[in-house]
Amino acid sequence: MKILVTGGAGFIGSHTVVSLTEAGLTPVILDNFSNSNPEVLAGLEKILGFPVIFYEGDCNDPGIYNRIFTEHEIGGVIHFAACKAVGESMERPLMYYRNNLGSLMTLLTVMEQHQIRNLIFSSSCTVYGEPDTVPVTEQTPVKEASSVYGNTKQIGEEILRDVASVMPFSIISLRYFNPVGAHPSGLIGELPTGVPNNLVPFVTQTAAGIRESFTVFGNDYPTPDGTCIRDYIHVMDLAEAHVAALSHLMKVNQEKYYDVFNVGTGTGNSVLEVVNTFDRVNNLNVPHRFGPRRSGDVIAIWGNVDKSAGVLGWKARRSLADALKDAWNWQSRLPKP
Ligand code: UD1
Repeated sequence: MKILVTGGAGFIGSHTVVSLTEAGLTPVILDNFSNSNPEVLAGLEKILGFPVIFYEGDCNDPGIYNRIFTEHEIGGVIHFAACKAVGESMERPLMYYRNNLGSLMTLLTVMEQHQIRNLIFSSSCTVYGEPDTVPVTEQTPVKEASSVYGNTKQIGEEILRDVASVMPFSIISLRYFNPVGAHPSGLIGELPTGVPNNLVPFVTQTAAGIRESFTVFGNDYPTPDGTCIRDYIHVMDLAEAHVAALSHLMKVNQEKYYDVFNVGTGTGNSVLEVVNTFDRVNNLNVPHRFGPRRSGDVIAIWGNVDKSAGVLGWKARRSLADALKDAWNWQSRLPKP
């Protein structure tokens, strides 16, 4: 069965292409390289041992979906393509609403025309905001979004729930926690353009000498070591969650189906734990200093993943140490800019 993967050249998308192929499915990638690189496709082909099916195009363009759905018999869609920088979303709200929500509605419209009903949507734990209790379950109330990016994920979920309540769609939203790591081959990984926003690419680039040191944003939080806590999940575990979600949709084989699942490890780690683990497993000593809190950061969040385990039969199998080893393996093979 062929699966359309929008944003398939991106960080999570490219790793999911590997997992889909390992599961016997055929990914069809759609990407416009707006935040990725054509070299990812070469990395994928080395891992897979054969050429990938690829279309370059914009996810707001109905024509490209029409073309793909006409040229291939598509059994389901995984919609990764979106902008994801919290700070940028506050400066360019219209671009975020257009890219993240306009593309979703275009995709749904063309899927309906071609009677393709299975869809997996990339959502985020950001929908929980600053939770009152941790770990968060799927029943934890969704809080008012603190960024435009977060709002696009909340509204995206609402659109999908409403659409699937009356139309013959079968949809799962996966609420990702913090994806880190890389494929163990070191042939694909996270490739941020410009200065990284996220913790692990900043740490790996500092270790590689591209950045002088990195700043821990705040060490006066009410947590055991004063730094923020997140649920860091190996990107290959996250990729496999998409395969599990897709096979669940095939198994339930039901129209007007919608559900949401947390995709994390069930464990929280502080920023300092991440940095110390990175140093330990890679035998490095990455320079860091403490700085002020970053505006908009939640103090602590990690996920309860019982629902994903029970319903999807999926659980994260890799450790934080595995992820940080793989992240460094990937970074150290990259040419220095
Ligand atoms: C954010 C979003 C998440 C989104 C993800 C993708 C929120 C609450 N979370 O995750 O939904 O999917 O970005 O881009 O909107 N840190 C440092 N120094 C650095 C960078 C980060 O100390 O140089 C700390 C942060 O303060 C935070 C932790 O590391 O405590 C993780 O930060 P980051 O990797 O940016 O992810 P989130 O903000 O959790």
